[in-house]
This record gives sequence, structure tokens and C-alpha cells, in this order.
Amino acid sequence: MRIKVLSPATSANLGPGFDTLGLAMQIYNELEIHTDAAEFTIEVEGAGRASLPRDKRSLVYKAIAKVYAAVGKPVPPLRVRQINRIPVASGLGSSAAAIVGGLTAANHLLGSPLTQDDLLQLAVEIEGHPDNVAPALLGAVVASGVDSGKVIWYQIKPANPPHIVVISPDFPLSTAKARQVLPKTVPLADAVHNTSRTAFLLHCFASGDYRHLRFAMEDRLHQIYRAKLIPGLNDVIDACYEAGGIGAALSGAGPAVIAFVDRAGTKKTASIAAGMQAAFAKHGVKSKAFITEICTTGVSCMECLD
Ligand code: HSE
Repeated sequence: MRIKVLSPATSANLGPGFDTLGLAMQIYNELEIHTDAAEFTIEVEGAGRASLPRDKRSLVYKAIAKVYAAVGKPVPPLRVRQINRIPVASGLGSSAAAIVGGLTAANHLLGSPLTQDDLLQLAVEIEGHPDNVAPALLGAVVASGVDSGKVIWYQIKPANPPHIVVISPDFPLSTAKARQVLPKTVPLADAVHNTSRTAFLLHCFASGDYRHLRFAMEDRLHQIYRAKLIPGLNDVIDACYEAGGIGAALSGAGPAVIAFVDRAGTKKTASIAAGMQAAFAKHGVKSKAFITEICTTGVSCMECLD
């Protein structure tokens, strides 16, 4: 048997929703798994080809092993091919895509004994936080949290969904390094600032009225501290607005930047991307641009008839 799994890229935080909000995008990592194998092997093509592990340290392996352990079975020999399109350590959820892809594949191979909530729980046990794995699994915009050890979530399928422009600089930034620069405590005024914006942000996606999106994507909990790790970040966000974008923020822990363009501005997406890339270039940063859409379905798995 051969199965294919498509796991979407994700953008966490969305400005003020630090460690809470995320959305899935139509940029996919692919897993191809053959069951006619003598041993467990992993091949990697595309992003991370030179750096990702192929052994038990692989997130895809860890995720597959987690599902088999959950049902009390040994991991079978499998031939795994990763075709990666999501840049690694870029703030676009490449780890979440690997984890969710591995969990979904293993669950399918076992006849789907685990529910979506079971898979989300296992994903968070591997990743440590839910804001990327939840939208990668479920699709659309997802708010998530942990209540007494259990991951809880709700999903918004955005009304009048804006286009997405993602600018991914050509240097990696690990989430661990990007978290080290964050303070342990923040001023009350900054917490209030973010509470207000988060409330507006959810209204934008739920209602399809994006008039206040620019205000709603401002953040004072992480972006201001991380800006020193990403040369030109504030200029890139300004460039989005100058070219007609309606919202922009650091994507996850960075260094990628996510921007939104309303449906009336479809023709502007390429010039917004070019303006943002030019702003990075002024700071000596080369980047790659993706023009994409929100993925509303999350991870998908299909059996291939050879
Ligand atoms: N919410 C996390 C952070 C996302 O900003 O550190 C990391 O992918």
C-alpha cells in the first residue's frame, strides 16, 4: 500500500495571539509512505534536505512512533519520502507539518483508531504548544489552549477570506532562540494592548469585516523583542501597508512575515510581495515570497492505487 499525506504550513500568533492563535495556508509538505519495506527508512527532498534527520530523531518518525505506542503496537517497516515545500525554522510551521503528517499517516495505516482530538493531544505532547499543530491538523483559523492538561480549541472558517503574502528570509531562526529574547513579565498596559487587539482580530475573521485588521495585528508581547533578531522587520511590515496590504505581522517566532490582502486588492498581491522583499533587501536580507490562501481543511491523507 502507498499513502500520501499533505500537511499545510501554518502561521502562529497572527500578531497579538501569542501561543494561542494560528492559521493554515495552502503551502504543503508531502509525505509518501510505502508499506512494502524491509526496514524503516526516511528520504527527504526539498526544504531541509541537507539538515533534517532521517533516523529516530526525525519528527515524522517520532509522530508515527507515538501513534503506534498509543495503540500498543510496534512501528512496522515503512519507506517514508518527505517532499518539503515549507522552509525549515522559518516561522511557517515546518515542525508542526512533520508532526501532524506523521500522526495522520500512522493513524490511517492502523485503520483510524484515534480521533482528531487524540491526534491533537499527541501533537502537542511532541511540539510543546498547540498554536501551529492545531491549525495544521484542523485547517482555517484556530484558537487553542490547554485546560487541566487537555488541549481545547475552536475554529473560525474566515468569512470573505483575505489573500496571504508570506515573505520568508533566507536565514533560519529556531523557536528556542526566538523565545530566549522574550521577557518573563510584561507591563500591564502591554497585556491590555494585546487583549484588545486579539478581540478585534477574531471579529475580523469571523465577520469578514477587515476594516480594523491593521490595528488588530499589532503586538507587544513578542514581536517588539524579536525585531532585533530580524533585520528590517518593521520596515517590511510598513512596506506591506504602503503597497496596500491590510494586515501584517511576524509569522510565528519568525523570521517570516505574514501579510493579508483583501479580495478587492487581488491585483496588488505581487506588488505587495515585491515591496516587502525590497524592504528586506535594503537590510541585506534575501527572501522568498509565497502568494497563497488560507487552507480551510487541514491535513489530508489519501491511499494511492498503484
Ligand atoms: N507561539 C510560538 C512562538 C510559535 O511565537 O514562540 C512558534 O512556532
